[in-house]
Amino acid sequence: NWTTGNVIDEQVAAIRELVGDKRAICGLSGGVDSAVAAALVQKAIGSQLTCVYVDHGLMRKGETEQVEKDFVAATGVQLKVVDAEERFLTALKGVSDPEEKRKIIGREFIRVFEQAQAEIIADEGPAVEFLVQGTLYPDVVESGGGTGTANIKSHHNVGGLPEDLEFKLIEPLRQLFKDEVRMVGQELGLPEEIVHRQPFPGPGLGIRIVGGVTKERLDLLRDADAIAREELTAAGLDRDIWQCPVVLLADVRSVGVQGDGRTYGHPIVLRPVSSEDAMTADWSRLPYDVLGKISTRITNEVRDVNRVVLDVTSKPPGTIEWE
Ligand code: XMP
Repeated sequence: NWTTGNVIDEQVAAIRELVGDKRAICGLSGGVDSAVAAALVQKAIGSQLTCVYVDHGLMRKGETEQVEKDFVAATGVQLKVVDAEERFLTALKGVSDPEEKRKIIGREFIRVFEQAQAEIIADEGPAVEFLVQGTLYPDVVESGGGTGTANIKSHHNVGGLPEDLEFKLIEPLRQLFKDEVRMVGQELGLPEEIVHRQPFPGPGLGIRIVGGVTKERLDLLRDADAIAREELTAAGLDRDIWQCPVVLLADVRSVGVQGDGRTYGHPIVLRPVSSEDAMTADWSRLPYDVLGKISTRITNEVRDVNRVVLDVTSKPPGTIEWE
């Protein structure tokens, strides 16, 4: 008889037994899976778990705070936040090729994470023997089933795991589907914004700027994205759409007119999609008045944006993200 309560109790007992008096670490991405996995392990072993959050500066507005404040408040977890924005921006400077961006972000992510890991290991305390991963059942099936060893596609995990993995893995969500993970998260008292978060790519806004990634462009995109999310939430549409990437066409300018004169600004693309599993997707038929409100607000409130366009392409042929 499956209940979230049973799952939690079973996992907590098993994790306690497995870890004993050793320590574990867990990387948080801001996403549902790593958050729920961490919360479960925290419930089992408390301060023997340390979480690491790499702030790469490519998150959306408020997301880092959600992890730093709300998640910590809800779970009492020990969290090490690494502010690596400058490092990532420096590494990304002048790069506009999507795959190159992904490679750089993945590489830097692993370096920063490993450094944080090393610092935790060097702390006084019992040996760090375990690494917590938010692997779900569909990931296990996709990667050819399961021996409990690391086998994670780079798509799911920024850059993948280091080759010379020395940790034993704890994967408390290996038997669960996404909706079950959300239920477990809810039962563990995690914030609503985390439990019901829509998918967001590991490389973050870095792959939602068509063109080079700079702090100014990121700030601009963060503002536009925050407006779109706010209006979609206000209209009660969050559960109807799979996700809605907001994309900045940084290398494109078009002429507009606003207030007293001519503008020459960038377009923002809205990419709302409906999907079951992200393998295929359809563009969401959002109400025109919601789209209109988002467009009006973005062009009024975000400097340098003078046009909002809607992506009406399904997947295939388009991917969900623009890069
Ligand atoms: P595409 O653009 O391939 O996206 O249709 C399918 C789903 O995957 C997400 N996505 C990523 N997630 N790292 C991730 O962790 C990535 O590099 C990445 N690229 C795309 C995308 O948001 C969508 O949900």
